[in-house]
Amino acid sequence: MTEKMNFNGRWVLVTGASSGLGKEMACQLARVHKANLILVARRASRLLELKTRLEQDHGIQCRIVQADLANPEDVDRVYQESVQQAEVYGVVLNAGVTHFGQHADLAWQDFETMLATNVTSVVRLVNLFVPYLLSKNQGGGILLVASLAGLMPVPYQSAYAGTKGFITQFGQSLYQELKGQNISITVFAPGGIATEMMESSGLSAGFENSVFLQDVQSCAAMALDGFARRDYLPVPGLLNNVQLFFSRFLPRQMLGMIARNVYRAALLKR
Ligand SMILES: NC(=O)c1ccc[n+]([C@@H]2O[C@H](COP(=O)([O-])OP(=O)(O)OC[C@H]3O[C@@H](n4cnc5c(N)ncnc54)[C@H](OP(=O)(O)O)[C@@H]3O)[C@@H](O)[C@H]2O)c1
Repeated sequence: MTEKMNFNGRWVLVTGASSGLGKEMACQLARVHKANLILVARRASRLLELKTRLEQDHGIQCRIVQADLANPEDVDRVYQESVQQAEVYGVVLNAGVTHFGQHADLAWQDFETMLATNVTSVVRLVNLFVPYLLSKNQGGGILLVASLAGLMPVPYQSAYAGTKGFITQFGQSLYQELKGQNISITVFAPGGIATEMMESSGLSAGFENSVFLQDVQSCAAMALDGFARRDYLPVPGLLNNVQLFFSRFLPRQMLGMIARNVYRAALLKR
């Protein structure tokens, strides 16, 4: 599939649209691309507020699906309700949670929630939407929001890095499987972004004013640009790309050691 995606007047589903990167992608899809939106998250009041604003300001249509993506029944309902209400063209699987701290301090229940949200819900929605998008034959696509944490070891975010590593491998493998068909899969791998996740995880204390922290507006624009161009693995921002480039020449153990020092210092500031 080489033709660029065109979101104008089409329906795009965004998970994790109540905050951060997902919310900003939804805003830009409405404002810049004139897309209609299916907004998914647990906090329905935030989704309702966003729907009202985007419909008023940009003349597009929004639907809301309140869902807890850690719950398999909700995940299936997201698919069912979406395709009942609209002809879906783009799927942005962005919702995610992290844990910052010693892995031993991550409660088992919280790990299971992270795995269900970051990994299982993504695979399930891909399984449902790939045959759907192929059957529609409109040249639709799926954007998987991974992370630079999926491409290198990240001590003190060990389980999170594992979930993003899964999404990266999964998406890149599927990209090849689906090549030549009327659909695309893009894996987006940002570095740190100034969102609620930084605050809620405690990462912000250690990385405040860091040059590596990207603003959410430019990050969302780069995500949507890579999605529209059907890129393989877009990484936003010059510094993230420089980091990724040099990481290829270092032994992974050394890379992990450097990351351990950086993240341990951040943990001490929390
Ligand atoms: N911030 C970073 O530094 C960074 C870096 C690389 C990659 N990423 C990735 O970018 C994506 C977005 O993160 P963000 O930084 O924008 O974080 P955020 O501001 O905390 O937003 C996370 C979104 O995911 C939703 N979500 C979380 N758990 C959910 C669940 N069980 N069911 C449904 N929705 C759920 C949240 O909505 P509700 O709470 O309303 O359900 C919220 O809309 C994530 O996949 C994250 O891993 C972030």
